[in-house]
Amino acid sequence: MSAKQPSRRQFLSTAALTTAGVTLAGVPILNGVAEAGVTSVLYPQAELTDASGKYALPKLPYEYKALEPVIDAKTVEIHHDKHHAAYVAGANKAEDNLTAARSEGKFDLVKYWSKELAFQGSGHILHTIYWTNLGPKGGGEAKGDLAKQIARDFGDFAKFKQHLTAATTTVEASGWGVLAYQVFAKKLTVLQVEKHQDLTTWGSIPLLVIDVWEHAYYLTYQNKRADYVTKIFDIVNWENIAQRYDAARKVG
Ligand SMILES: [Fe+2]
Repeated sequence: MSAKQPSRRQFLSTAALTTAGVTLAGVPILNGVAEAGVTSVLYPQAELTDASGKYALPKLPYEYKALEPVIDAKTVEIHHDKHHAAYVAGANKAEDNLTAARSEGKFDLVKYWSKELAFQGSGHILHTIYWTNLGPKGGGEAKGDLAKQIARDFGDFAKFKQHLTAATTTVEASGWGVLAYQVFAKKLTVLQVEKHQDLTTWGSIPLLVIDVWEHAYYLTYQNKRADYVTKIFDIVNWENIAQRYDAARKVG
């Protein structure tokens, strides 16, 4: 196998990502030219899938209580162990049903399972990024090249934060606020994602994702989503975002 050929596991992961939702649409196409290290920073295959290529629940990179007082331990526990786990199970179920459809040549439910795969798979991937985006030593502002690009694309950090906060707070019903890198334009953008898979721009790589499904904040903040969004910047791990930004630029 040459250095540029993906392993079976990488292939399975990439194939899974290809069908995992529009949020990731540009990435599998670019996978062939991306360095393996770059891809593993953006979409950590070792955490997203197990050895057989099935989706798997990644371990939290910290204890349940590590994000307190911004996000309470019980919320993190339920969010990770129940909600995120359900997306993993749902994505595998969708894959299994699509595999069965192919082997039986019966595609009458292909629309249903395709939607399920986009929803559950995108939920799994965005949650995996969300956990690594946050940390007990977070807060402050972006530094280095990421800070320069934020200034270039948004004016300054305060304007960027205001934009991301507004977009995140006003997500209709459930979804995410996302800072993403558009590889086709070499530009940062803010996305307001509904559910997990709607209202994205293809070819945008998520760098920072903020979950505003009620399960992410309701125990502490109840209906005050804006308070949660304001406070979450105290635990944003800007070093992680900068790593993702550096990797995304190498893809583009
Ligand atoms: Fe969530």
